Parts: sequence; C-alpha cells; structure tokens
Amino acid sequence: MSDIATTTAESPARSPLAAEVARRRTFAIISHPDAGKTTLTEKLLLFGGAINLAGQVKAKGERRNTRSDWMKIERERGISVVTSVMTFEFEGLVFNLLDTPGHEDFSEDTYRTLTAVDSAVMVIDAAKGIEARTRKLFEVCRLRDIPIITFINKMDRESRDVFELLDEIEKTLALDTTPMTWPVGRGRDFLGTYDVVNGGVRLLEGGGAKTGAAQQIEIEELAKLSANLDVSAVKDELELVTAASKPFELAAFREGHLTPVYFGSALRNFGVGDLLEGLGKFAPEPRAQDSDQRKVEATDPRMSAFVFKIQANMDPNHRDRIAFARLCSGKLSRGMKAKLVRTGKSMPLSSPQFFFAQDRSVADEAFAGDVVGIPNHGTLRIGDTLTEGEDFNFVGVPSFAPEIVRRVRLTDAMKAKKLKEALQQMSEEGVVQVFRPRDGAPALVGVVGALQLDVLKARLDAEYSLPVEFEVSEFQLARWVSSEDRKKLDTFIAANTSSIADDVDGDPVYLARNEFYLGYTKERAEGIEFTNVKDVK
Ligand code: G4P
Repeated sequence: MSDIATTTAESPARSPLAAEVARRRTFAIISHPDAGKTTLTEKLLLFGGAINLAGQVKAKGERRNTRSDWMKIERERGISVVTSVMTFEFEGLVFNLLDTPGHEDFSEDTYRTLTAVDSAVMVIDAAKGIEARTRKLFEVCRLRDIPIITFINKMDRESRDVFELLDEIEKTLALDTTPMTWPVGRGRDFLGTYDVVNGGVRLLEGGGAKTGAAQQIEIEELAKLSANLDVSAVKDELELVTAASKPFELAAFREGHLTPVYFGSALRNFGVGDLLEGLGKFAPEPRAQDSDQRKVEATDPRMSAFVFKIQANMDPNHRDRIAFARLCSGKLSRGMKAKLVRTGKSMPLSSPQFFFAQDRSVADEAFAGDVVGIPNHGTLRIGDTLTEGEDFNFVGVPSFAPEIVRRVRLTDAMKAKKLKEALQQMSEEGVVQVFRPRDGAPALVGVVGALQLDVLKARLDAEYSLPVEFEVSEFQLARWVSSEDRKKLDTFIAANTSSIADDVDGDPVYLARNEFYLGYTKERAEGIEFTNVKDVK
C-alpha cells in the first residue's frame, strides 16, 4: 500500500488537489446485525488511531470535552444517532468510514449514506453466510455500481464450508469472487490465512494484526504448530484455490462484478490489516458525481458538495443541526462562502467539522471525498447542493415512498401550530416524511420503517414538548405523481383532490387506501407517472 500512497502523493504530474483527492477512500460497511460491523470498525480505527493521536495531541483536551458532551446528549436521548462518519489515516491514505445505522429497520438514512460512498466492505458471518439485510444493502450498492470488498468474519469459530460460502456469494448476489487470502485450519484449529497472491501464511498468533509480509511462514512449517493439521490436505486445498480462483481484475471489481474476499476475525484483530491494505490498493478514489447539468469530477478545483444526512438537536437548547455533506469536488476551506443552490443564497462555512472516531474537531480544509459536518439552524436540507457559485444540483439522493402512513394526533389542540413547525423540521431532517392533504385535513406522516415512528414520538416529546399519538389513517400508500404533460397532471390532481397531498418540497403525492385502489387509479390515469422513489433536490 505504501507504494500507492507514495506515487499518488508525490507524482509530479498531479496537482496538489489531485494528490489530496487520490489519497481519499470513502467507504461504508454493509452487514446483517451481529456479523461484526462494530467490532471491525473499532479495529479499523485502531490502525488509524495512533497516527491521529500523534498528530493531534495539542487539540486533545478540547476534543475530549466535545466528545463527552456529544455522548451525553446521545445517552439522554436514548437513541443511538451519532457517529455518522469516522475519519482515520493509515499509511499516507485518508479513510472516511461512513456509518450505516445499526438497527434492523429498513432505513432511508442507510440508503442515503450509500449515496455518499465510493466503495463498501461487506462483512459476512462465516457461520451464517449471506443474510437478509446484507442482501438488501448489497442491492443498493449494485444499483449505484459501488464496488464491494468482502470480509468473511468470525473465522475463529465454527464456520460453514468456505467453498460453499463463496459459491453462495456468486449465486445469490451474482458477483464473482476472488479470494485474496484463504483460511488455514477451521474453527478451533484456525491457524491463520494463506496469502493467495504472494504465498506464505500469516499466523493468528503473533503479529497477525500487522500488515506486510514480515510474519509470513511457509506451509511446511505449519506441521510444527498444530498436531491437528493435515499439512498435505492444506497444500492440496491451497493448490486448488490458487488454480481454480478467478484472477483478481481491478476493472471487474470497480464495475461491481467481482469482489476480492478476505478471511479473518475482527474480534481477534486478524485479517483486518489485509482488508485495509486491500481497501487502500483497490478501492476507488472519489468518483465523479452526476448532477443535473454535468458530471462533476472530483479533481475539479471548484468546491461542490451535497448533504446526505442531517443530525439535529445535538444540543437541545439551541436547535442546532449538523448537515453531513460529502465533498464531490475541489477543496473546502474554513470561512469560505458557498452557494446553496436550492435557495440561491450564499452561506459562510465558518466552522465545518471533521470527525475522528467519536471526536469532532474543526476542519480547516477538506477535499473531495471527505465528509464534513456543517452546523446550521435549519438552512440545509437533505439533498441540498453547495457550490462555489455554480448552478447545478447533484442527483441521486433518494427519498422512498413510505411503507407506513399515520395521522398525528395531538393531545393538546392548542399546539397545532407548534406541531406544524416541528413536523416541517423533522421532514427536512429526513426523520419522517410529512404529507399535507390539499383538502385541508390534518397532516399525515409517512415512514419506511416502524422505528422511525418511535424516534419521531420521542423527539417531539423531548425537544418540542409535544406529546403525540399516531392514528391509522384511511390512506396506506403514497406515491409521487408527475407527468411530462403539465395539463394532464393538473387534470389528474383536480379529479382526485381528496387523495392529493404535498410533500415537504410542495411536490404532489397521491394517497391510496390500498394496493387495489392504487392499481385502479393508475390504470385510469393515462400519462401520469407514479413513483415510489423521489430524487431529493
Ligand atoms: P454488529 O455491529 O455487526 O451488530 O456486530 P458486533 O461487532 O457488535 O458483533 C456481534 C457479536 O459478534 C459480538 O458478540 C462480537 O464480540 C462478536 N464478534 C465479532 N467479531 C467476531 C469474531 O471475529 N469472532 C468471534 N468469535 N466473535 C466476533 P456479543 O457476545 O454479541 O457481544 P459482546 O458482549 O462480545 O460485545
């Protein structure tokens, strides 16, 4: 990996901006709960931790305070919401790890987070193989052509047959696999991994956590380490793996057709170094992003970014919000002014924040690929584009049609205005979607996962003193409606007023009692498009 860092950072052909961009690897971890994402994250941060600490000693005291405040709020709220991004450096590269929320609910947040990464690590529990949530998240990655590196975890325990696991990845995900390492011994007799590319075995005991070839030993020597190991069978297996595996092809990986596979144990910090090395070597640099005007290259010197997540009320006394923005091009410097394209207004970026593990610190500069937190009081919304003056909007940050629609019932009718404001804020943050019926009926909220309703209730109570209940509404489904023919859309809306609502941006939504009604309406609504995903702009 150091080769890559050296060439990217020092290549004379590259501008300083291009060199900085080339150092970035922005990724997420996708997995089913319990596969080991948290453990792996901790171990990855360990690799970067020493470097950060060494370089940040001065700011440490201050950062500690920030961190404890941050955690306290999270504890008080009782909802695990923070740590959306963790930045660490390793061997000359800057890794931005974007966290995907851990709960099992289908979550819009998770999907939006995946719009902000360039690659993903898929963690699989060796005893379980591909599980439901991994599969769902994988499908989102595929839609966006996000390359995947696979980490098969918990090799220190009884696992399923390894060939079978690879076969399952190939068949269920239609993804070619290239094992980069191969486990030697299984379960209790797991000794380490064979380096399929360079040869040699890295042992679980003694130095497995480090990268590099220094701790490798030859297969023949394994007999001395474990009486249970049939060395000739291991040799046969490794010969088979080497001969039968598809060679690793960078292009196929980058296009999302092939995944390099690493084996290890996050708990024992084994194989994590190999994985990190693989990320550094193979994972793409910040990619060009699509906008409604042009493709924006990461090395374009003009700063641009989009907001993919809003974290509100970090401090409940000051309605502050942090908008998490992914830089898509250029360099962001503290104090610079950015144009918020949606409103056309300029906003100063006076204290953009960086996140090191669970700490935050003010960022003086950030480059394409980085994620910064921008404190604001409600100016920024999910999907917003920030530029250095240009007029374009990034596309592809999705909003999903809710699977659950409810009417909010307020116990204190005097607070209707306050509720309206609170719901507006919550919808701008992406906590829920709010639909305002055109016929003046009370607002409906829509969520994709049931947990979102609990979060909404808890937050309305804690932050706005608004105790609410949710009532089943006559409507169960919501679809955005549009048409290339403005007149047709107007006619459709006029004919269905009692089923039309406006979303947070004022875009029309058709509310249906059930699938049958939806189907019935669709059949008769010629020229009208019903969509269950909306590009947030
Ligand atoms: P998640 O974020 O994907 O949900 O998984 P997490 O890291 O929390 O790991 C889930 C459980 O699996 C934890 O055990 C963790 O210690 C264990 N685990 C993770 N990686 C490995 C591994 O490589 N080998 C083995 N043997 N176990 C692993 P737990 O008992 O649920 O929690 P804890 O009490 O140990 O923290």
